[in-house]
Amino acid sequence: MSDILSHTEGGVLTLTFNRLEKKNSITQAMYAALADALSLAEGQAAVRVVLLQGHATVFCAGNDIADFQNQPPQGPDSPVHRFLRAIATFPKPLLAAVCGPAVGIGTTMLLHCDLVYAGDNAAFALPFVNLGLCPEAASSLILPQMLGYHRAAEALLLGEPFMAEAALEVGLANRVLPPTEVNAYAQSRARKLAEKPIGSLIETKRLMKQGQQQAVLQQMTEEGAVFGRLLQGPAAREAFAAFMEKRKPDFSKV
Ligand code: COA
Repeated sequence: MSDILSHTEGGVLTLTFNRLEKKNSITQAMYAALADALSLAEGQAAVRVVLLQGHATVFCAGNDIADFQNQPPQGPDSPVHRFLRAIATFPKPLLAAVCGPAVGIGTTMLLHCDLVYAGDNAAFALPFVNLGLCPEAASSLILPQMLGYHRAAEALLLGEPFMAEAALEVGLANRVLPPTEVNAYAQSRARKLAEKPIGSLIETKRLMKQGQQQAVLQQMTEEGAVFGRLLQGPAAREAFAAFMEKRKPDFSKV
């Protein structure tokens, strides 16, 4: 079965992370499938709204770390960057249903969703520094605006997880629900949006986003260049090796 499930009904395209054995971490092939699905959905009249969801126990454990080692993203046309640009510029409403861990891109992709529903077990984490990397998805721009600088620094420099209630408080989540109810609730909100006039939805979203759109894309480009450099560096190599060997990384020599 595919690692990304795709289903359209009632005007809602639901994309489901389906790689539970690896905690829904995302491979290059999955980024490509997501980017292609969003690009297709943009022009499809049958799709008025898109919903991203995982499982009641885990949303997404971030980039597949083995993939980081074996096939690091090469430039702006790599699948991960295509996916990031696609979610940052997607014109129709984009929703997410998030339960359990949402790590790295599992959290940063939410910054580009219009509505986010979280399970009370949701744990958001941005461990880029802990992996010898830097933020992506324009999170270094959007998070300080959303959380305030100091809370963003706590999330991005220390990389410690924060829970659903904190996400609700800072406006990263719209509502917190029991995990078994989140996907169904998000689906019902998506269906409700899909009944509204699509032209008004698209224009309203565009007007809300346009003031920041160029800055977001520019930040993503700069983050992408730094991320690509750090990915080849000794700290990232040590962090990935430590993850695969299930040990604590030792950054004392880097
Ligand atoms: N890349 C590749 N494999 C991953 C992964 C990732 N990002 N996240 C989890 N996995 C794999 C584990 O290696 C393990 O594989 P194995 O069964 O072959 O040993 C399996 O998924 C289960 O993970 P495990 O860590 O045992 O589950 P957990 O419930 O104890 O913890 C997480 C879940 C998400 C908290 C933890 O897996 C985690 O922190 N993952 C890494 C997150 C990360 O740093 N992502 C990169 C962000 S840029």
